Amino acid sequence: MAGNSIGKEFVVTSFGESHGKHVGVIIDGCPAGLPLYEKDIQAELDRRIPPQPKIVSARIEKDTVEILSGVFNGFTTGAPIAMIVANREADSSDYTAIKDLPRPGHADYAARVKYGGVNDYRGGGRFSGRVTVALIMAGAVAKKLLSQFGIDVLAYTVAIGKVKIGKALSFAEIRKRRYSTAVRCPDMACAEAMEAAVVNARKEGNSLGGVIEIIALGVPAGVGEPLFDALDADIAKMLFTIPAVKGVEFGAGFRAAELKGSENNDAFKMRNAKVAALTNNAGGILGGISSGMPLIARIAVKPTPSIAKKQRTVNLAKMEDAVIEVKGRHDPCVVPKAVPAAEAVVAVALVDHMIRGGFIPKVLKEQK
Ligand SMILES: Cc1cc2nc3c(=O)[nH]c(=O)nc-3n(C[C@H](O)[C@H](O)[C@H](O)COP(=O)(O)O)c2cc1C
Repeated sequence: MAGNSIGKEFVVTSFGESHGKHVGVIIDGCPAGLPLYEKDIQAELDRRIPPQPKIVSARIEKDTVEILSGVFNGFTTGAPIAMIVANREADSSDYTAIKDLPRPGHADYAARVKYGGVNDYRGGGRFSGRVTVALIMAGAVAKKLLSQFGIDVLAYTVAIGKVKIGKALSFAEIRKRRYSTAVRCPDMACAEAMEAAVVNARKEGNSLGGVIEIIALGVPAGVGEPLFDALDADIAKMLFTIPAVKGVEFGAGFRAAELKGSENNDAFKMRNAKVAALTNNAGGILGGISSGMPLIARIAVKPTPSIAKKQRTVNLAKMEDAVIEVKGRHDPCVVPKAVPAAEAVVAVALVDHMIRGGFIPKVLKEQK
């Protein structure tokens, strides 16, 4: 199973399956001298599961991080940082019954073909949303690193199903309130409607998807390595590592296709002796390089594949048509849990590029 490492300078390797012993991550190339404690990682992990049982899977786990290496006396040493979280709440009983019945919309069938049926299918195995625990741990280190350079990465829910955020929110409101509602939407009234939509979908044995916006503030101009390692390309690749992400757009995104040049171009202007733009349809990236404007991306997250409703499938042992009703503990909407993962992966991509571009040095603090 190659393809589990990413990054050129800040190299992140993810491992672990949903019902295995641990999920974990190794970061190679983290600069030395970054103050780092388990509590920094734990704070990000604690944001993963919203405190509202009505809208999440019954697999509610207190994920506790253990840093195994790469940190000494409260600082990163420059050596690989390995971190693990134990899977304590795995319940594989519901999966034996559907071992040969691939869930529509899930990776079961494609993975069985690729790995000859020997892969760990329990709980989705390597294709479980649980792999986001590893992404969040790597992201916690990346976010801490970015914070030393005044960069903040914020994600929040802008839509669940057909319920969309109605009003523009300031960066300060988003920063302050994004984790204060179970659906991770900082607009309180809209969050209530989103929650109700998820509860209804679950009652019907169904699920919902949604849209998450990610904003990175304070990114200097000049980050990105065109052609093939353009900043938007690498951020998009990282965002697609989150299971259930089906679309990524930057700035005006798909809407730009309908605009005229005069409407889409972001006119420049001098602001406090610095170059700024009057609008941000580019989403902070031009030519694959950061422009100094806020970086803005959005991801489309599909509805959770595992639903209680009856669906047509096939029995792969008998090679005949079959019907499946998925039991077990599933999120009726994965959007809220994907929010911290989206912050994490954008932070990881930014750190990798900022080290490559010389914006972040390899040693942050010299030992006296
Ligand atoms: C945080 C998170 C939690 C998820 N929980 C579930 C779940 O409970 N049940 C499920 O069927 N899919 C869940 N998924 C989605 C599947 O993992 C995903 O749809 C599957 O691996 C197929 O990949 P694809 O949708 O990217 O093609 C979750 C995804 C994320 C990001």
